[in-house]
Amino acid sequence: MSGEPLLSAEDVRASRGGKLIVRGVSLEASGGEILGILGPSGAGKSTFFRTLTGETPLDSGRVRYGTQDVTAWPLWRRARGGLGYVPQTPSVLWDLSVADNLRVFAHVAEREGKPGAEPADDLATRLDLTSRLDVRAGELSGGERRRLELARALTLRPRILICDEPFAGVDPKNAEQLGDLLRAEAERGVAVLLADHHVAEALRVCTRALLLLDGEVAVDADPDAFREHPLVLGRYLGSWTRSLPPPPRA
Ligand SMILES: Nc1ncnc2c1ncn2[C@@H]1O[C@H](COP(=O)(O)OP(=O)(O)OP(=O)(O)O)[C@@H](O)[C@H]1O
Ligand SMILES: [Mg+2]
Repeated sequence: MSGEPLLSAEDVRASRGGKLIVRGVSLEASGGEILGILGPSGAGKSTFFRTLTGETPLDSGRVRYGTQDVTAWPLWRRARGGLGYVPQTPSVLWDLSVADNLRVFAHVAEREGKPGAEPADDLATRLDLTSRLDVRAGELSGGERRRLELARALTLRPRILICDEPFAGVDPKNAEQLGDLLRAEAERGVAVLLADHHVAEALRVCTRALLLLDGEVAVDADPDAFREHPLVLGRYLGSWTRSLPPPPRA
């Protein structure tokens, strides 16, 4: 799917602790695309994502959802405007059940007169959490918690989905299922951004891969070209991928 981008970042710069971390990043993501934002720890991936979600203010630049300039919008308003977000750090409500975690966004949206959220049971089925609905979120395994966080991000049927290390702590088979789910979302017309150090899975599902180095986009390529790129090998992947067969592509 192509067309007008659902998400645009235009020369985004952002500082943290007095240091410039995101140093002029521009990109566009259309429905159907999965952009892998990959790079070494500290490159600024999460900080860049937080400029897209409204958590970190920009020094300069613009963020647009469709044609709407959302640069000054806080996170909650962006969520109403079509953003789903899985942050890198845990974000479940620990003392609530899985079911209540899945209902909470829908409940708030309904109170604001916006019905149409995906029902908790449907989300649980899609994320293989049906048998865990009555469990307190604080009692989930790390991988189950990540599935819950992704399910929750899908509650309001987002058009833009930003996932910061969704495979972290998830076993390989479940990571593959989550990857398939991201693909299914993209096929429904969602624009997906994904950062993760599970590079094999990230490159299997993404349609384009960007290497972020020191807060700048250093490589922007299709996944096969990305994994062979000298800068990617030299600064991020190292030599281990050379011994692997090409990743399976659906
Ligand atoms: N609130 C903050 N105050 C000061 N420095 C910060 C803050 N947030 C991030 N940084 C710094 O910004 C840099 C980029 O951090 P960021 O979390 O964006 O990296 P990352 O690419 O997501 O890394 P990882 O792969 O480990 O998640 C790091 O040097 C980090 O210490
Ligand atoms: Mg990060």
